[in-house]
Amino acid sequence: MLAAFVSTPAPKDPLSVLEVGDRPEPEASEGWTTIQVKAASLNHHDLFSLRGVGLPAEKMPMILGCDAAGIDEDGNEVVVHAVISSADWRGDETLDPKRSLLSEVHQGTLAERVAVPRRNLLPKPADLSFAEAACLPTAWLTAYRMLFVRSGLRPGQTVLVQGASGGVATALIVLGRAAGYRMWVTGRSEEKRAAALVLGADQAFESGARLPERVDGVMETVGDATWSHSVKSLKPGGVIVTSGATTGFNPGAELNRIFFTQLSVVGSTMGTRSELESLIQLCSVTGVRPLIDVELPLSQAHEGFARMLEGRTAGKIVFTL
Ligand SMILES: NC(=O)c1ccc[n+]([C@@H]2O[C@H](COP(=O)([O-])OP(=O)(O)OC[C@H]3O[C@@H](n4cnc5c(N)ncnc54)[C@H](OP(=O)(O)O)[C@@H]3O)[C@@H](O)[C@H]2O)c1
Repeated sequence: MLAAFVSTPAPKDPLSVLEVGDRPEPEASEGWTTIQVKAASLNHHDLFSLRGVGLPAEKMPMILGCDAAGIDEDGNEVVVHAVISSADWRGDETLDPKRSLLSEVHQGTLAERVAVPRRNLLPKPADLSFAEAACLPTAWLTAYRMLFVRSGLRPGQTVLVQGASGGVATALIVLGRAAGYRMWVTGRSEEKRAAALVLGADQAFESGARLPERVDGVMETVGDATWSHSVKSLKPGGVIVTSGATTGFNPGAELNRIFFTQLSVVGSTMGTRSELESLIQLCSVTGVRPLIDVELPLSQAHEGFARMLEGRTAGKIVFTL
């Protein structure tokens, strides 16, 4: 079957090791089933995988991709929850020390078919397209958990999102706006800042700009490039929720400011199946939809990956099959 995969890591030149071609059909083990993938979205995770971050060479060849929406063996339209927990794990799947995402241990979703645990399937509502549904399990679920589960922030408070055009960033803007938060955004270009305003951000600033006032919370996925600005942008007692470090994992800690102004730094990763269910419901109830930058056939995966690597994003990049 057709798939986008990696056979050897390339830390410095990830696109050079992206392969699009034939891979063996998935085999569903006990409790698992096979999905016919209709749409699969791209995440920064897939670029990290090409670099070998979180995906050591001995696990390759590996089909990339965490997110999928498709059709199950009974003909039902489904969304796949990307967090694979141990068979005997109960409760919050993101806390299972043995959890993985699709494409880390088990073959991923950028393929015509993918094997997944039966319990990871959720019904796809008819009013969500396959492409829209395929955006939810990683970027959108991560944004949902950061904002609504981990931040402790209330609607009406001001939240700064670092980055304007990425998958998680656009999800945060749309979800925060829908839930009544005042969403502020930093973006690296005038075009990206303008797009964030159209999406529902209240104000958009240049990366690193001094804000008109300090904010209640910051949503961080950028890491080294924005961490110091995030810490300095918070009111005393404010919270940073961090779920990613696109530009590097070792920012200056700013410890003096964190303890002196009593900030909270909260980690967040993906979300639970039940949170994904709530997110899908939220989309249906409010009418919000993932911002899709571009839909490409999987055979054009290189173009999608290049856009993300070069920062040419305006929402989610979706591959269709
Ligand atoms: N922990 C988890 O469960 C989880 C889940 C999903 C994602 N993540 C992580 O979150 C990060 C974002 O993922 P994604 O899929 O949304 O990626 P993406 O679509 O490629 O978006 C990247 C974002 O980073 C911003 N950015 C990149 N370089 C920057 C710089 N030098 N200065 C300021 N902003 C910069 C971009 O801002 P502009 O709009 O200004 O270009 C953009 O908003 C990744 O590190 C990913 O691994 C973690």
